[in-house]
Amino acid sequence: MLNEKVEEALNEQINREMYSSYLYLAMSAYSLSVGLPGFAHWFRVQVEEENIHAMKLFDYINNQDGRVRLKEIKEPPMEFGTPMKMFQQTLKHEQFITRSIYELVGLSLVEKDEKTAYFLQWYVEEQVEEEENDKEIIAKLKGFEENKNTLAEIDAELAKRLPPK
Ligand SMILES: [Fe+2]
Ligand SMILES: [Fe+2]
Repeated sequence: MLNEKVEEALNEQINREMYSSYLYLAMSAYSLSVGLPGFAHWFRVQVEEENIHAMKLFDYINNQDGRVRLKEIKEPPMEFGTPMKMFQQTLKHEQFITRSIYELVGLSLVEKDEKTAYFLQWYVEEQVEEEENDKEIIAKLKGFEENKNTLAEIDAELAKRLPPK
């Protein structure tokens, strides 16, 4: 059986990952609306990743004989400004997710739920990757602001993102 507080926090994390999925889906639509299909593709792949993040938690709760509780998903914004502003928001959101994962690990340890703390290590590593991806793209967008590359070049690069394994 899952500890009640841990179960509640895991369910909250499902909601945060589903919101991430929703947020990036909104960014994908926004990118299309401003003529950036490569950005739209990149965010659509990220949506798939977020769904995986949510489903891994869903499976874990069920495998531990806990109960999944699906909460309401907040409505994401529709407008995200320049590509740079959009990726700064993405990075900020992922940093928030990283902190929430750390809090979840902390709670598991306080509740002496070593198994959940161990399970969450996958997310700790995944968050390093997520933040790095965003920082890389922000660096490219800085190059664009300094006229070192064009937005079309970055868009073409982002169009190459592969689906999650
Ligand atoms: Fe995520
Ligand atoms: Fe990832």
